[in-house]
Amino acid sequence: MSFQIPRGTQDILPGEVEKWQLIEEKAKELCRKYNYHEIRTPIFEHTDLFQRGVGDTTDIVQKEMYTFKDRGDRSLTLRPEGTASVVRSFVQNKLFGDPQQPTKLYYIGPMFRYERPQKGRTRQFVQFGIEALGSNDPAIDAEVMALAMELYQELGLKHLKLIVNSLGDTESRIAHREALVSHFRPVIGELCEDCQNRIDANPLRILDCKKDRSHPKMASAPSILEYLNDSSRGYFEQVKAYLDELNVPYEVDATLVRGLDYYNHTAFEIMSEAPGFGAITTLSGGGRYNGLVEDIGGPETPGIGFAMSLERFLVALEAEQIDLPIQKGIDCYLVTLGEGPKKRSMSILNDLRRAGLTADRDYLERKMKAQFKAADRLNTKYVLVLGEDELAKDVINVKDMNTGEQVEMPINEATEYLLKGIEGGTRS
Ligand code: HAM
Repeated sequence: MSFQIPRGTQDILPGEVEKWQLIEEKAKELCRKYNYHEIRTPIFEHTDLFQRGVGDTTDIVQKEMYTFKDRGDRSLTLRPEGTASVVRSFVQNKLFGDPQQPTKLYYIGPMFRYERPQKGRTRQFVQFGIEALGSNDPAIDAEVMALAMELYQELGLKHLKLIVNSLGDTESRIAHREALVSHFRPVIGELCEDCQNRIDANPLRILDCKKDRSHPKMASAPSILEYLNDSSRGYFEQVKAYLDELNVPYEVDATLVRGLDYYNHTAFEIMSEAPGFGAITTLSGGGRYNGLVEDIGGPETPGIGFAMSLERFLVALEAEQIDLPIQKGIDCYLVTLGEGPKKRSMSILNDLRRAGLTADRDYLERKMKAQFKAADRLNTKYVLVLGEDELAKDVINVKDMNTGEQVEMPINEATEYLLKGIEGGTRS
């Protein structure tokens, strides 16, 4: 019997996983600079958190959640996104009471959605996201977008497009909602079954419909930007002015609505414009969600954030043919000949590793020639050779694989010698 991985998931093997680690490290480093702190929430939550948080009428809740009953008959769901969980934790742990506000949080971890898998779309994917809770300052909207753009750019992506929109405040949204209903009601019979339900439940969702995308009424649908009241328009103007101040280029797209219900005011997506990227060009998305904290049982608290998947980040890097600077190879490999040297190699290896070097040896009883081959395959910078003769004299032979140069030295000087050589510039 042989087992296969579930559809829409992937194994990330050594050789590939280093790219993920690099992106994660860069994301964490950037968060440190912007003063965001890591939060880790459970992989599963009570189902009603997502029904309430993400929204009952969204595709995520209606079609894509991995929901199951546990043995205590509770309905639980593998998290399809991070925002609802972060807000739940913010409320439950009373982070709003912390004198340090806004609360700036980030997370990196797997999310689960039952979607049709394709390039850049998997059923388990890793999101890096940030959430800033407690500030209504449009400057933080710009900061969130700038951080997202900076991460992509730092790793070399060039063909990026930031799209922004405003979904306005409640008053603006109600006015827009009414306009949408009047616009689509006369032709509702021509739209798909989902849209027929959406017209009463959440007409904004119609604009996000994949099936009815080319219906003539889509292009002429009333734009939210025409329905923004003065304060919402003023807010949006300030967000744009801050983006200008940060020299972050963007395009306004009034049709951007996002697939989750909690948004208001700022909504944005970052797209890849790299040729050959594939059908799904959205790299990340986010926006403001004033009201979500209250919906989840907390005090009135504004919030904004975004999330990106590492899967799509990697697809974009591939499309732009960017090779990440991954360190390959090890620092030293110990070749031994004879039982005494083999035993002694353990403490030598131990010293090397404790000094911070990447060190390895043979564990397959290989002959000397095969050990050299293994060292070669590992792309090592130095090979240390210890035979019975050397051991008797308490010396070791050190070969620099770059230059071919060999030196014999006392065993207890080898670590220092290697450290110097590697710091001196042979480390790639
Ligand atoms: P979202 O637009 O649903 O927003 O997802 C954000 C990002 O997650 C997408 O742009 C994409 O990079 C990635 N993503 C989503 N689904 C998949 C999938 N099936 N396979 C691979 N990648 C995927 C959210 O999740 C919001 N929580 C973002 C947010 C945070 N808004 C405010 N704060």
